[in-house]
Amino acid sequence: MDKKKTVYVGMSADIIHTGHLNIIHEAMKLGRVVVGVLTDEAIASYKRLPYLTYEQRSEIVANLKGVDEVIPQTTLDYVPNLEKVRPDYVLHGDDWKQGVQQKTRQRVIDCISQWGGKVIDIPYTQGISSSMLNQRLKEIGTTPEVRMKRLRRLIAAKPIVRILESHSGLTGLIAENVCVEVNNVKREFDGMWASSLTDSTSKGKPDIEAVDLTTRLHGLNDALEVTTKPFIYDGDTGGKLEHFVFTVRTLERLGVSAVIIEDKVGLKQNSLFGTDAVQTQDTIEGFCAKIKAGKNAQITDDFMIIARCESLIAGKPISDAIKRCFAYVEAGVDGIMIHSKEKTGEDIKEFCRQFRVKYTDVPIVVVPTTYNQFTEEELVSWGINVVIYANHMLRASYPAMMNCAKSILMHSRSKEAANEYCMPIKEILELIPGTKN
Ligand code: SPV
Ligand code: MG
Repeated sequence: MDKKKTVYVGMSADIIHTGHLNIIHEAMKLGRVVVGVLTDEAIASYKRLPYLTYEQRSEIVANLKGVDEVIPQTTLDYVPNLEKVRPDYVLHGDDWKQGVQQKTRQRVIDCISQWGGKVIDIPYTQGISSSMLNQRLKEIGTTPEVRMKRLRRLIAAKPIVRILESHSGLTGLIAENVCVEVNNVKREFDGMWASSLTDSTSKGKPDIEAVDLTTRLHGLNDALEVTTKPFIYDGDTGGKLEHFVFTVRTLERLGVSAVIIEDKVGLKQNSLFGTDAVQTQDTIEGFCAKIKAGKNAQITDDFMIIARCESLIAGKPISDAIKRCFAYVEAGVDGIMIHSKEKTGEDIKEFCRQFRVKYTDVPIVVVPTTYNQFTEEELVSWGINVVIYANHMLRASYPAMMNCAKSILMHSRSKEAANEYCMPIKEILELIPGTKN
């Protein structure tokens, strides 16, 4: 072994397997091994957040036999680290010769050839891969603690956290598993929203806090059972302060990551009615007292209480929303949600601008149901951290079910409905693993 030579290996190291050990083994034959462990941010830029935090992953790698030094790799691109380390060799599994990673490999070659460095492609270890192990881990599930922590990590690691409404085990599975590839980057939802509107509607009840917490938790539990991603719970007004403290404890115990409560009092009306319904806001003092009681009630530092400001919904000016949200942050909330039913989005954009002048880091959550023309990229440019697609699973399924029911009535048989509106029987039987043994 030539200890004067330096070998660089970049890895996520979330699920360490023999493939990684093989690369390190080969690396140590060539010289001093420096491992660049990808930070959460670097990994989240192209795939799901790792199970383990950066600190945990780097500690594990530092203790692997043959590793001399661990440094963070803060971007998917190797070049910034390579320029610092100036390695003689970069080792990687030869799978990066194909697909998306080809470009990364070429950049590495171009960079290190400046000082005579070489890329060595290690034959891929057959029969084991991180994606296979990841699938297995998903099947095992998660724990409430791990799930709860995940939202804070996502907010820290991603430009925007993407949340989809889920009101059942089945919609939970969709949010958990649906994945598309855009420009070679895998895109999926980061977590789920337990919406009061869709929880109520799916039970045939109005969205007026008539479905009680215990009933909603039964439904939520169905989704928790079959998913691993974080949940944000729509806590409506939070109810009475004395009751809210129990809600916080219950949600935290279940592994829900955050509760969002709105600054309204009295009979709650859905916000999307705007000023067509009576929307009475709490006093700033009253709502701050509720926030403080909730924050005092939680056991861990991980659970988040997010204050939802309804000033714009109630027809008040942006200045009122700003005044309130500043007070809510002072009272200790972990984030704010600003809501509006305006279609232009201008009020939300301006609110974010003013809010960010004072608080650069407090997470902003939005529910762009009415101003849905903006892409996530645009929302990021306004300073938004979390986007919630709050009701789309239910809104998509209801018309489909109505059309199917009407078709059966119209034709006095189900042939047309089955052909036009239904998935094949074979598919439904294969949808849920374990349906057939
Ligand atoms: C929900 O999804 O229940 C919400 C968002 O609270 S909204 O319906 O827009 O008020
Ligand atoms: Mg709601």
